Amino acid sequence: MDMPNAAPGRAEQLALLTQTAPDTEMGRLLRRFWHPVALSSDVLPGHAVPVEALGETFTLFRGESGTPYLVGGRCRHRQTLLHTGWVQGEKIRCIYHGWQFDGSGRCVQRPAEKEARVPPGCRIPGHPVHEYCGMVFAYLGEGEAPAFELPRKDVFEVPGVLIAVTKETWRINWFQQIENSLDAVHVSFVHQALRVGPFGDAVTTMMPDLSYVENEAGIEQIAVRAHDNVRKSDWTFPNNNHVVVPGLRKGDPWIDFGIWMVPKDDERSTRFTIYAMAPADDDANERFRAYFREFGGYNADEHYDELFHQRKAPPEEDFLAGLISAQDYVAQRGQGVVADRRLEMLGKSDLGVVTLRRVFWRELDALREGRPTKHWRKRAEPLSLPMQPGRQRDDSPASTAATAS
Ligand code: FES
Ligand SMILES: [Fe+2]
Repeated sequence: MDMPNAAPGRAEQLALLTQTAPDTEMGRLLRRFWHPVALSSDVLPGHAVPVEALGETFTLFRGESGTPYLVGGRCRHRQTLLHTGWVQGEKIRCIYHGWQFDGSGRCVQRPAEKEARVPPGCRIPGHPVHEYCGMVFAYLGEGEAPAFELPRKDVFEVPGVLIAVTKETWRINWFQQIENSLDAVHVSFVHQALRVGPFGDAVTTMMPDLSYVENEAGIEQIAVRAHDNVRKSDWTFPNNNHVVVPGLRKGDPWIDFGIWMVPKDDERSTRFTIYAMAPADDDANERFRAYFREFGGYNADEHYDELFHQRKAPPEEDFLAGLISAQDYVAQRGQGVVADRRLEMLGKSDLGVVTLRRVFWRELDALREGRPTKHWRKRAEPLSLPMQPGRQRDDSPASTAATAS
């Protein structure tokens, strides 16, 4: 007999974490939040690009005014891909028979129809977008979007801060990266293997004492390896991790990383990262900019054979962000495209992973049972990560830390 709203069994529970299409529980939960869907530079004024997120295809176009719009991926008429059409003013016209849509998804013109009036049902989905730090965020849920608050971090908004953004699409389920964010032990191994530069110097093989504290925005992770080696990270529900890592050269300010893992579908995910460095001297500033000009397009997934079969490291010198990303990629992609969690054997040091799953299951239970989910909101007081930009790790023995995504 069908049991509506029956609690899922263990295997089902594990599967819930990885399914993100609109008709799934996680898909419904994720659609209550803002997600990055593209870099601002992906779409120029007067152009359109396709965007995939949470198992759906969308059209991202930028009106000639520069305003971005996100509408459904396919034309209402006969379902051809809309990004192949033309942006005209603040509207987009389909390539096939010229139907035209505004930025809310409403059809405003059907040139070959005798009747000039467009019926009200002639529309495609339209979603709110918000540009922030060089990324286009979208709200893909129903109804009114929440205020654009939760994704914001004060460190990204400091006057004069240097910002760079990257995106990498990996053939991997999104939840592997989410679990990795709250798995502090991995830093001592994954990021020990290829020690490079100041980041490599800061990695130690010491095993941490761990604690995880849920707060209004997410989960604070604290990993203590020694009195002078404390790693904190500020994980924000449902898919952002904020950490700091040492700068490109010894003496450069540390860099704040804000990493979102956004499912394209259940087997591919895009890792969007904001890097923020407090302004420093001209050399350090230029090093930061030059690094991202040269390596900002690195995508570990395009180096699968080198990384897995030839066991080649990515280029080593001055390759901090790409290196960290490639290391995380190897560990996570090595679990399989969708890790089979039924086969795993967790230990006490997996406290972060366990905490994280419990939080997600609690929220999914509430959603399934029609109860309110938690009102996640931006932290009133930003978490002080162990190393603030502008302070050098050698200056501050009490807060030396190794940290990565
Ligand atoms: S399919 Fe778009 S106008 Fe016909
Ligand atoms: Fe990592």
